[in-house]
Amino acid sequence: MQATAIAQPNIALVKYWGKRDLARNLPAVGSISVTLSGLQTEMTVRLNDAGHRDRLIVNGASAEKMLPRVSATLDRVIGEKREFAVVESRSNFPIAAGLASSASAFAALTMAAAAAAGRSLSQQELSRLAAESSGSAARSLYGGFVELRNGADEIHVSQLAAENDWPLSIIVAVTEAGPKAVGSTEAMEISRKTSPFYGNWLAHQDGDLDIARGAIEARDFAALASIAEHSCLKMHSVMWASRPPLVYWNPATLSCMQTVRDLQNSGADVFFTIDAGPQLKAICSPDDSDIVHDALRSTSGVIDVLRSALGGAARLVVDE
Ligand code: DP6
Repeated sequence: MQATAIAQPNIALVKYWGKRDLARNLPAVGSISVTLSGLQTEMTVRLNDAGHRDRLIVNGASAEKMLPRVSATLDRVIGEKREFAVVESRSNFPIAAGLASSASAFAALTMAAAAAAGRSLSQQELSRLAAESSGSAARSLYGGFVELRNGADEIHVSQLAAENDWPLSIIVAVTEAGPKAVGSTEAMEISRKTSPFYGNWLAHQDGDLDIARGAIEARDFAALASIAEHSCLKMHSVMWASRPPLVYWNPATLSCMQTVRDLQNSGADVFFTIDAGPQLKAICSPDDSDIVHDALRSTSGVIDVLRSALGGAARLVVDE
Protein backbone atom coordinates (compact mmCIF):
# COMPACT_ATOMS: atom_id res chain seq x y z
CA MET A 1 0.00 0.00 0.00
CA GLN A 2 1.33 3.40 -0.91
CA ALA A 3 0.15 7.00 -0.69
CA THR A 4 1.53 10.44 -1.43
CA ALA A 5 0.60 13.72 0.25
CA ILE A 6 1.64 17.32 -0.32
CA ALA A 7 1.86 19.95 2.41
CA GLN A 8 3.17 23.51 2.49
CA PRO A 9 5.19 25.26 5.19
CA ASN A 10 3.54 27.81 7.45
CA ILE A 11 4.76 30.91 9.24
CA ALA A 12 3.48 31.81 12.70
CA LEU A 13 2.18 35.34 13.24
CA VAL A 14 1.50 34.67 16.93
CA LYS A 15 4.31 32.34 17.90
CA TYR A 16 4.46 28.93 19.54
CA TRP A 17 7.40 28.74 21.94
CA GLY A 18 7.51 26.26 24.83
CA LYS A 19 5.94 22.91 25.67
CA ARG A 20 3.74 21.85 28.57
CA ASP A 21 4.19 18.12 27.98
CA LEU A 22 7.44 17.06 26.36
CA ALA A 23 6.46 13.38 25.98
CA ARG A 24 3.27 14.21 24.03
CA ASN A 25 4.83 17.32 22.50
CA LEU A 26 1.91 19.43 23.71
CA PRO A 27 2.55 23.17 23.28
CA ALA A 28 2.46 25.55 26.24
CA VAL A 29 0.60 28.15 24.16
CA GLY A 30 -1.73 28.45 21.19
CA SER A 31 -0.54 30.04 17.95
CA ILE A 32 -1.79 31.58 14.70
CA SER A 33 -0.08 31.08 11.35
CA VAL A 34 -0.41 31.50 7.60
CA THR A 35 0.12 28.58 5.25
CA LEU A 36 2.27 29.32 2.19
CA SER A 37 1.80 28.43 -1.47
CA GLY A 38 4.30 27.40 -4.10
CA LEU A 39 6.79 26.00 -1.62
CA GLN A 40 5.91 22.42 -0.75
CA THR A 41 6.98 19.01 0.53
CA GLU A 42 5.74 15.91 -1.25
CA MET A 43 5.90 12.74 0.83
CA THR A 44 5.38 9.16 -0.35
CA VAL A 45 4.90 6.35 2.16
CA ARG A 46 5.20 2.80 0.82
CA LEU A 47 4.43 0.00 3.25
CA ASN A 48 6.53 -2.99 2.39
CA ASP A 49 6.00 -6.32 4.10
CA ALA A 50 9.28 -7.63 2.65
CA GLY A 51 11.38 -4.87 4.30
CA HIS A 52 13.20 -5.43 7.58
CA ARG A 53 13.55 -1.78 8.62
CA ASP A 54 12.21 1.67 7.74
CA ARG A 55 14.04 3.68 5.11
CA LEU A 56 13.99 7.44 4.51
CA ILE A 57 15.06 9.20 1.33
CA VAL A 58 15.11 13.01 1.32
CA ASN A 59 15.52 14.71 -2.05
CA GLY A 60 17.05 11.55 -3.50
CA ALA A 61 19.57 10.84 -0.71
CA SER A 62 19.30 8.46 2.25
CA ALA A 63 18.67 10.45 5.46
CA GLU A 64 19.49 8.29 8.48
CA LYS A 65 19.57 11.15 10.99
CA MET A 66 15.92 12.04 10.55
CA LEU A 67 14.79 8.40 10.45
CA PRO A 68 13.96 7.88 14.18
CA ARG A 69 11.57 10.85 14.18
CA VAL A 70 9.94 9.57 10.98
CA SER A 71 9.61 6.02 12.35
CA ALA A 72 8.05 7.38 15.55
CA THR A 73 5.49 9.26 13.44
CA LEU A 74 4.65 6.08 11.51
CA ASP A 75 4.20 4.22 14.82
CA ARG A 76 1.81 6.89 16.08
CA VAL A 77 -0.25 7.05 12.88
CA ILE A 78 -0.30 3.37 11.88
CA GLY A 79 0.48 1.60 15.15
CA GLU A 80 3.65 -0.06 16.35
CA LYS A 81 2.69 -3.43 14.85
CA ARG A 82 3.05 -2.37 11.24
CA GLU A 83 4.92 -3.20 8.08
CA PHE A 84 8.21 -1.42 7.52
CA ALA A 85 8.02 1.63 5.30
CA VAL A 86 9.99 3.32 2.58
CA VAL A 87 9.44 7.06 2.94
CA GLU A 88 10.44 9.45 0.18
CA SER A 89 10.40 13.20 0.73
CA ARG A 90 10.87 15.88 -1.91
CA SER A 91 10.87 19.61 -1.07
CA ASN A 92 11.06 22.37 -3.66
CA PHE A 93 12.57 24.93 -1.28
CA PRO A 94 15.96 25.02 0.43
CA ILE A 95 15.99 23.70 4.02
CA ALA A 96 18.34 26.61 4.76
CA ALA A 97 15.50 29.01 3.99
CA GLY A 98 14.42 28.60 7.61
CA LEU A 99 10.89 27.86 6.47
CA ALA A 100 10.15 25.26 9.11
CA SER A 101 10.61 22.40 6.66
CA SER A 102 9.63 20.10 9.54
CA ALA A 103 6.11 21.59 9.44
CA SER A 104 5.40 20.68 5.82
CA ALA A 105 7.31 17.39 6.13
CA PHE A 106 5.46 16.04 9.18
CA ALA A 107 2.08 17.28 7.96
CA ALA A 108 2.58 15.47 4.63
CA LEU A 109 4.07 12.39 6.33
CA THR A 110 1.14 12.06 8.74
CA MET A 111 -1.41 12.35 5.94
CA ALA A 112 0.43 9.95 3.60
CA ALA A 113 1.04 7.38 6.36
CA ALA A 114 -2.63 7.30 7.36
CA ALA A 115 -3.72 6.86 3.73
CA ALA A 116 -1.12 4.17 3.03
CA ALA A 117 -2.39 2.22 6.04
CA GLY A 118 -6.01 2.65 4.96
CA ARG A 119 -6.87 4.73 8.04
CA SER A 120 -9.53 7.32 7.41
CA LEU A 121 -8.87 10.19 9.81
CA SER A 122 -10.38 13.66 9.98
CA GLN A 123 -8.28 16.77 9.34
CA GLN A 124 -8.46 17.45 13.10
CA GLU A 125 -7.22 13.95 13.97
CA LEU A 126 -4.42 14.23 11.43
CA SER A 127 -3.36 17.61 12.80
CA ARG A 128 -3.28 16.26 16.38
CA LEU A 129 -1.08 13.37 15.27
CA ALA A 130 1.18 15.72 13.26
CA ALA A 131 1.53 17.96 16.34
CA GLU A 132 3.03 15.09 18.30
CA SER A 133 5.85 14.99 15.73
CA SER A 134 6.27 18.76 15.42
CA GLY A 135 3.99 21.40 16.91
CA SER A 136 4.04 23.67 13.87
CA ALA A 137 3.19 20.73 11.55
CA ALA A 138 -0.36 20.63 12.96
CA ARG A 139 -1.03 24.03 11.34
CA SER A 140 0.13 22.89 7.85
CA LEU A 141 -2.83 20.47 7.61
CA TYR A 142 -4.96 23.59 7.04
CA GLY A 143 -4.73 26.41 4.50
CA GLY A 144 -4.94 30.19 4.79
CA PHE A 145 -4.99 31.69 8.31
CA VAL A 146 -4.85 28.90 10.89
CA GLU A 147 -5.23 28.85 14.66
CA LEU A 148 -3.95 26.16 16.99
CA ARG A 149 -5.88 26.41 20.27
CA ASN A 150 -4.37 24.91 23.34
CA GLY A 151 -7.20 22.96 24.99
CA ALA A 152 -7.06 21.41 28.46
CA ASP A 153 -5.85 18.01 27.29
CA GLU A 154 -5.51 18.33 23.54
CA ILE A 155 -5.08 20.87 20.79
CA HIS A 156 -7.74 22.10 18.37
CA VAL A 157 -6.70 23.37 14.97
CA SER A 158 -9.03 25.40 12.74
CA GLN A 159 -9.01 27.75 9.80
CA LEU A 160 -9.72 31.41 10.65
CA ALA A 161 -9.88 32.60 7.02
CA ALA A 162 -9.22 30.95 3.67
CA GLU A 163 -6.22 31.86 1.52
CA ASN A 164 -8.42 33.76 -0.96
CA ASP A 165 -10.37 35.62 1.72
CA TRP A 166 -7.46 37.98 2.36
CA PRO A 167 -4.60 37.53 -0.11
CA LEU A 168 -1.17 38.46 1.27
CA SER A 169 2.37 38.03 -0.04
CA ILE A 170 5.28 36.58 1.89
CA ILE A 171 8.87 37.48 1.05
CA VAL A 172 11.61 35.46 2.77
CA ALA A 173 15.02 37.13 3.05
CA VAL A 174 17.64 34.40 3.48
CA THR A 175 20.64 35.77 5.38
CA GLU A 176 22.54 32.58 6.13
CA ALA A 177 22.75 29.07 4.71
CA GLY A 178 23.16 25.97 6.88
CA PRO A 179 21.28 24.44 9.79
CA LYS A 180 20.36 26.40 12.92
CA ALA A 181 22.68 26.21 15.92
CA VAL A 182 20.08 24.89 18.40
CA GLY A 183 16.94 23.02 17.27
CA SER A 184 13.53 24.31 18.38
CA THR A 185 12.71 21.37 20.66
CA GLU A 186 15.91 21.74 22.69
CA ALA A 187 15.78 25.54 22.64
CA MET A 188 12.19 25.66 23.93
CA GLU A 189 13.17 23.55 26.91
CA ILE A 190 16.13 25.84 27.66
CA SER A 191 13.76 28.83 27.62
CA ARG A 192 11.16 27.08 29.80
CA LYS A 193 13.76 26.19 32.41
CA THR A 194 15.87 29.33 32.45
CA SER A 195 14.28 32.42 30.89
CA PRO A 196 13.02 34.91 33.51
CA PHE A 197 10.52 36.14 30.90
CA TYR A 198 8.97 32.73 30.22
CA GLY A 199 6.10 33.03 32.73
CA ASN A 200 5.19 36.44 31.36
CA TRP A 201 5.26 35.05 27.81
CA LEU A 202 2.72 32.37 28.77
CA ALA A 203 0.53 34.82 30.69
CA HIS A 204 -0.02 37.18 27.73
CA GLN A 205 -0.39 34.72 24.87
CA ASP A 206 -4.18 34.37 25.01
CA GLY A 207 -4.56 38.15 24.81
CA ASP A 208 -2.25 38.28 21.78
CA LEU A 209 -4.23 35.49 20.11
CA ASP A 210 -7.50 37.40 20.69
CA ILE A 211 -6.04 40.55 19.10
CA ALA A 212 -4.66 38.65 16.08
CA ARG A 213 -7.92 36.72 15.58
CA GLY A 214 -9.84 40.01 15.66
CA ALA A 215 -7.43 41.63 13.19
CA ILE A 216 -7.83 38.73 10.76
CA GLU A 217 -11.60 38.81 11.09
CA ALA A 218 -11.63 42.56 10.39
CA ARG A 219 -8.91 42.29 7.66
CA ASP A 220 -7.09 45.00 9.63
CA PHE A 221 -3.53 44.92 8.28
CA ALA A 222 -2.11 47.52 10.71
CA ALA A 223 -3.49 45.65 13.73
CA LEU A 224 -2.17 42.31 12.48
CA ALA A 225 1.23 43.87 11.73
CA SER A 226 1.49 45.33 15.22
CA ILE A 227 0.57 42.15 17.13
CA ALA A 228 2.69 39.90 14.88
CA GLU A 229 5.85 41.99 15.29
CA HIS A 230 5.17 42.20 19.03
CA SER A 231 4.78 38.40 19.32
CA CYS A 232 7.96 37.83 17.34
CA LEU A 233 10.07 40.27 19.34
CA LYS A 234 8.65 38.97 22.63
CA MET A 235 9.54 35.39 21.69
CA HIS A 236 13.07 36.48 20.82
CA SER A 237 13.31 38.37 24.13
CA VAL A 238 12.44 35.12 25.93
CA MET A 239 15.16 33.41 23.87
CA TRP A 240 17.81 36.11 24.47
CA ALA A 241 17.22 36.00 28.23
CA SER A 242 17.61 32.20 28.33
CA ARG A 243 20.76 30.63 29.72
CA PRO A 244 22.68 29.89 27.60
CA PRO A 245 21.27 32.72 25.47
CA LEU A 246 19.52 31.74 22.26
CA VAL A 247 20.39 34.42 19.73
CA TYR A 248 19.39 33.34 16.24
CA TRP A 249 19.87 36.70 14.50
CA ASN A 250 22.89 37.91 12.56
CA PRO A 251 23.71 41.47 11.44
CA ALA A 252 21.79 40.98 8.20
CA THR A 253 18.64 40.00 10.15
CA LEU A 254 18.77 43.44 11.81
CA SER A 255 19.47 45.16 8.49
CA CYS A 256 16.35 43.48 7.09
CA MET A 257 14.31 44.72 10.06
CA GLN A 258 15.54 48.23 9.29
CA THR A 259 14.55 47.77 5.64
CA VAL A 260 11.03 46.83 6.74
CA ARG A 261 10.87 49.88 9.04
CA ASP A 262 11.95 52.12 6.14
CA LEU A 263 9.30 50.57 3.89
CA GLN A 264 6.65 51.12 6.58
CA ASN A 265 7.73 54.74 6.93
CA SER A 266 7.34 55.20 3.19
CA GLY A 267 3.74 53.92 3.42
CA ALA A 268 4.06 50.25 2.43
CA ASP A 269 1.78 47.67 4.07
CA VAL A 270 4.42 45.30 5.37
CA PHE A 271 5.58 43.72 8.64
CA PHE A 272 8.25 41.23 9.63
CA THR A 273 8.49 38.03 11.59
CA ILE A 274 11.50 35.88 12.47
CA ASP A 275 11.55 32.27 13.72
CA ALA A 276 14.31 30.19 15.33
CA GLY A 277 16.82 31.21 12.70
CA PRO A 278 18.37 34.30 11.07
CA GLN A 279 15.98 34.63 8.10
CA LEU A 280 13.44 37.44 8.03
CA LYS A 281 9.96 36.87 6.65
CA ALA A 282 8.12 39.96 5.41
CA ILE A 283 4.34 39.77 5.09
CA CYS A 284 2.87 42.42 2.82
CA SER A 285 -0.06 43.34 0.62
CA PRO A 286 0.29 41.90 -2.92
CA ASP A 287 0.41 45.49 -4.25
CA ASP A 288 3.58 46.17 -2.27
CA SER A 289 5.29 42.83 -2.91
CA ASP A 290 7.57 44.10 -5.70
CA ILE A 291 9.01 46.98 -3.67
CA VAL A 292 9.37 44.78 -0.57
CA HIS A 293 11.13 42.11 -2.64
CA ASP A 294 13.50 44.62 -4.26
CA ALA A 295 14.30 46.38 -0.98
CA LEU A 296 15.12 43.12 0.82
CA ARG A 297 17.07 41.83 -2.20
CA SER A 298 19.36 44.86 -2.02
CA THR A 299 19.74 44.79 1.78
CA SER A 300 23.31 44.12 2.86
CA GLY A 301 23.93 40.48 3.81
CA VAL A 302 20.88 39.01 2.06
CA ILE A 303 21.93 35.99 -0.01
CA ASP A 304 18.59 34.95 -1.47
CA VAL A 305 14.95 36.08 -1.55
CA LEU A 306 11.96 33.73 -1.94
CA ARG A 307 8.44 34.86 -2.81
CA SER A 308 5.23 33.18 -1.81
CA ALA A 309 1.53 33.79 -1.33
CA LEU A 310 -1.00 32.17 0.99
CA GLY A 311 -1.69 28.52 0.21
CA GLY A 312 -4.20 25.79 0.87
CA ALA A 313 -4.50 22.70 3.04
CA ALA A 314 -2.36 19.56 2.86
CA ARG A 315 -3.75 17.14 0.29
CA LEU A 316 -3.50 13.56 -0.85
CA VAL A 317 -2.09 12.96 -4.30
CA VAL A 318 -2.25 9.16 -4.61
CA ASP A 319 -4.18 6.75 -2.48
CA GLU A 320 -3.96 3.13 -3.62
C1 DP6 B 1 9.80 29.56 16.27
O1 DP6 B 1 7.23 23.21 15.50
O2 DP6 B 1 9.70 23.30 15.02
O3 DP6 B 1 8.87 28.43 14.40
O4 DP6 B 1 7.26 21.01 18.14
O5 DP6 B 1 9.65 20.97 18.80
O6 DP6 B 1 9.01 20.42 16.45
P1 DP6 B 1 8.69 21.22 17.70
O7 DP6 B 1 8.88 22.73 17.33
P2 DP6 B 1 8.58 23.51 15.98
O8 DP6 B 1 8.66 25.02 16.53
C2 DP6 B 1 8.33 26.13 15.81
C3 DP6 B 1 8.75 27.34 16.55
C4 DP6 B 1 8.69 28.64 15.78
C5 DP6 B 1 7.37 29.37 16.04
C6 DP6 B 1 6.15 28.79 15.37
O9 DP6 B 1 6.24 28.21 14.26
O10 DP6 B 1 5.06 28.96 15.95
